Amino acid sequence: MHKTLKILCIGLGLASMTSCHNTTYKETQDPAEQEISRKVDSVLSLMTLQEKIGQTVLYSSIEDVTGPTLDTNYMNYLKNGEIGAIFNATGSSFTRELQKIAVEETRLGIPLLFGYDVIHGYKTIFPIPLGESASWDMDLMEKSARVAAEEATAAGLHWTFAPMVDISRDARWGRVAEGGGEDTYLGSLIAKARVKGFQGEDLSDINTLLACAKHYAAYGAAQAGRDYHTVDMSELSLREYYLPPFQAAVDADVATVMTAFNELNGVPATGNSYLLKDVLRDQMGFNGFVVTDYTSINEMVPHGYARDLQHAGEMAMNAGVDMDLQGGVYKDYLKKSLDEKNVDMERLDQAVRNILRLKFKLGLFEDPYRYSNEELETEVVLSEENLAFAREVAQKSMVLLKNDKQTLPLKDNQKIALIGPLAADEFHIIGNWSGRGDRDGTAVSIKEGFEAQNKTFTYVKGSEITGDDRSGFQSAVNLAKQSDVAVLVVGESERMSGEAASRTNIRIPEIQRELIKAVKATGTPLVLVLYNGRPLNLVEENEMADAMLEAWFPGTSGGHAVTDVLYGRYNPAGKLTLTFPRNVGQVPIHYNMKNTGRPQDLEGAHPRYVSRYIDVENAPLFPFGYGLSYTSFNYSQPQLSSTTLRDGEKLTIITEVTNTGDYDGEEVVQLYIKDRFGSVTRPVKELKAFQKISLKKGETQKVSFEISVDDLKFYNRDLEFVNEAGQYDLFVAGSSDHAFTNSFELKMRDTQNNL
Ligand code: BGC
Repeated sequence: MHKTLKILCIGLGLASMTSCHNTTYKETQDPAEQEISRKVDSVLSLMTLQEKIGQTVLYSSIEDVTGPTLDTNYMNYLKNGEIGAIFNATGSSFTRELQKIAVEETRLGIPLLFGYDVIHGYKTIFPIPLGESASWDMDLMEKSARVAAEEATAAGLHWTFAPMVDISRDARWGRVAEGGGEDTYLGSLIAKARVKGFQGEDLSDINTLLACAKHYAAYGAAQAGRDYHTVDMSELSLREYYLPPFQAAVDADVATVMTAFNELNGVPATGNSYLLKDVLRDQMGFNGFVVTDYTSINEMVPHGYARDLQHAGEMAMNAGVDMDLQGGVYKDYLKKSLDEKNVDMERLDQAVRNILRLKFKLGLFEDPYRYSNEELETEVVLSEENLAFAREVAQKSMVLLKNDKQTLPLKDNQKIALIGPLAADEFHIIGNWSGRGDRDGTAVSIKEGFEAQNKTFTYVKGSEITGDDRSGFQSAVNLAKQSDVAVLVVGESERMSGEAASRTNIRIPEIQRELIKAVKATGTPLVLVLYNGRPLNLVEENEMADAMLEAWFPGTSGGHAVTDVLYGRYNPAGKLTLTFPRNVGQVPIHYNMKNTGRPQDLEGAHPRYVSRYIDVENAPLFPFGYGLSYTSFNYSQPQLSSTTLRDGEKLTIITEVTNTGDYDGEEVVQLYIKDRFGSVTRPVKELKAFQKISLKKGETQKVSFEISVDDLKFYNRDLEFVNEAGQYDLFVAGSSDHAFTNSFELKMRDTQNNL
């Protein structure tokens, strides 16, 4: 009999049901779940110690390299049943080949789980997640994750290491490119949308991609923005700002969670039982399995938290880490740890159960090859439909940062000088962590976008992304002189953001800044199109350019989308989800800061002795929530249903938004509040709600928000999530940079907390 089938029959009732039920996943009354638990237990009862340990081991194939170590022996481990999952192995034929070894050559034939970093697309690449988040469009983000999942699962994959839900306020940290920005409320909605998108409706569907909320926890707060660095923060900040997106992912039934590389308040996240057991399992209710980040068990040794690898493995396992990604520590040391009674069998069994349960849910025990489907792969991957959707997502991700004298949209009768190292680029355009996206010409460059739409233009490269070769400057300048508008496509290389790409200088590389200056000197109107994976210091560019369009790394259909936006075929509506500072010295900077006792705008403040810099203003260059349109919007003063909000009631806030410009357009209408004082200090403002609306020119729409007391809760000094009575201010606007216009009072039945 086929081994997998053998296990299934046993699972249906033949094996002993007496194994221990002290599981980490929630006991449930759901008959389907109970059935899976029975199957899991029966498989477990057949397993040797080595086979159990094998399920907790995840290795990379040599097809791809996403970390510092590769163990080329993984094939031997696989044949010995010492591996339960493989990552960086893609494509239906390769995954089928590996699965065959697991199913046919190992004693029990337990199917493998195939993981991969499907971060913003598998082969059809969408804009980087930070870019996508600027759309503020949850349906769009859910759908792009769904499309990514459909392509990836058709290519044999079961599991993505995404979404990254780390809140970050630090433009130096390269991984801001992979997240949803600085705001917890928005980040939580995005986390939920992406988990739902990847996982789909039902885990047993063949296009379900298990999601992985990462990196747990507080990875985005690395000191000085240096990747992998120490995190030290109050429990209050952790709970208020960094954990909610993980909770949102758990609420959306995320299947897996990845531990972070960093330590948190002295304890590495991978050995942190408080984070993994108390918070993730007990408080958040996480029900899936926990995987480490790349070799992060091993890294507890250089962290200075573990004596040696065996000790590190014991701390990870005992803290609740179920699977070891690439470290080989569980594989090499767990048996010894069990023999020495430093880890008990029950804990290992829990880890194995957590993993097997998902393999059952995906239907892999019924058909281990169900995802490896060549025909489907050819049909789905890079389909016309997916490419068209990637174009739409890229359009909606772009943020118009500046547009003086209506320089944009470009007119069809204008002669355009298309200049810059990224203008004809098909390599960097798909950004970092771009799955199996091709860097050899599949992506549409901006130059190709212009060609496809028959625009009148001439292209000159001008310079490389970095270096000091100025030999192309003169032809760029000559071209600009003969043209009506110069469009320069400049920015970072794809390697300048993402993992291990922290920067202390967040400017456009020097050679490109010189190119911009040279073109500017011609006097020809100047449009900058920017590719970057983080906020940049654009102070000088903002002075020079007539218009600036933030295109992020726009993905496979990026060149079409940029052309659409530059020529007004799509009116940009993106809003920043991460503050753009004036310089790196302002970092970390975010819109929802605290006030200090000496704010600059305090009435009667002494001009010197206030909280400020002496060399640059406090305000960023472009704030959170900011983004222009080719049209303009007018907001009426909000009308409140009441000036008080009581427990059990709702406050309705209505604003009229009018499109007062010459184009139809979309606007992200944002509601911010400020809690004037509390038992712990409150941010100067907080995003509480938003709506993305579409308005024809001249049209007015009423936008209505509802706030309940629950929306105003926060963590008090005893770490209780509470309401406190008091006065609140609010405004509704198209950016976080706006004055408060209204206020209301929150009245609670029990005002004790206010003391
Ligand atoms: C990254 C993770 C990624 C993993 C596997 C690590 O270096 O931090 O985000 O999922 O590699 O590729």
